[in-house]
Amino acid sequence: MKGIILAGGKGTRLYPNTICVSKQLLPIYDKPLIYYSLSVLLLAGIKDILIISTPYDTPNYRKLLGDGSRIGINIEYCVQETPRGLADAFILGEEFIDGGSVCLVLGDNVFYGQHLSALLIKAMNRVSTDGGAAVFGYLVKNPREFGVVEFDKNNKAISIEEKPVHPRSNYAVPGLYFYDNSVVEVAKNVKPSERGEIEITSVNNHYLEHGTLNVMVMGRGMSWLDTGSPKGMHKASSFVKNVQELQGFYISCIEEIAWRRNFITLEQMRSLGLELASTDYGKYIISLAEENKG
Ligand code: G1P
Repeated sequence: MKGIILAGGKGTRLYPNTICVSKQLLPIYDKPLIYYSLSVLLLAGIKDILIISTPYDTPNYRKLLGDGSRIGINIEYCVQETPRGLADAFILGEEFIDGGSVCLVLGDNVFYGQHLSALLIKAMNRVSTDGGAAVFGYLVKNPREFGVVEFDKNNKAISIEEKPVHPRSNYAVPGLYFYDNSVVEVAKNVKPSERGEIEITSVNNHYLEHGTLNVMVMGRGMSWLDTGSPKGMHKASSFVKNVQELQGFYISCIEEIAWRRNFITLEQMRSLGLELASTDYGKYIISLAEENKG
């Protein structure tokens, strides 16, 4: 399975922070926001990744992550001239997806939880074996700001609406989606919504109507953090800082995940840590390498 990170958009809800820098390059505590979505793909074992961003920001992502080889993966880049909606990712990424299945993660979403890897692998396996799509439902207090999924008594998804004025449930659909290859054609046939975007929710509705949408609930052991506002960014930063200080484990340290997934060796991870040795982030990587050497 391949992975796409959508890191475009104007980030107007964060102005003036994002007037001249892409939102997903802003820090969440000690690392750029995009590290968190990239980590999700790495945790799922996905090594072929396409980053989609604006003409202005794409060179900066390239500067930050290069071709991915430093962490043992392959990263490609694609420019989205104008933000046309999330489903545009599959149209722009058609060649990259190359007939296979795909996971889309939004570059401004942050996930953290012990069972995240297992959940990702379950979603991937479902789509790889049975086809269709797999998305998630997560309980929130402010469903109007998201895609919202409604379940029947048997926990079967029965409706999905984009930012409804009268939400039918409190389950938001986070920005993490798994699809079989038909998503490319589905996206091409999506009609723009009232706000002029080809919505991911319309794609999900297509799968729902065809009985091929799996909606898996992310339980309370999982944290899905909102970065849609300055307050959300601040809360996410505090969360990361607190968890890292309390537990001693870093959240979304891409070098660590690449090593744990065997994409790079312990020695390669150590070298990457040494390049950042003046920071706590770099020191963490070096100490991991020291603790685990044979
Ligand atoms: C997008 C999607 C929405 C989803 C959300 C998750 O909204 O349209 O369905 O719940 O991402 O972050 P956005 O916040 O980009 O408008």
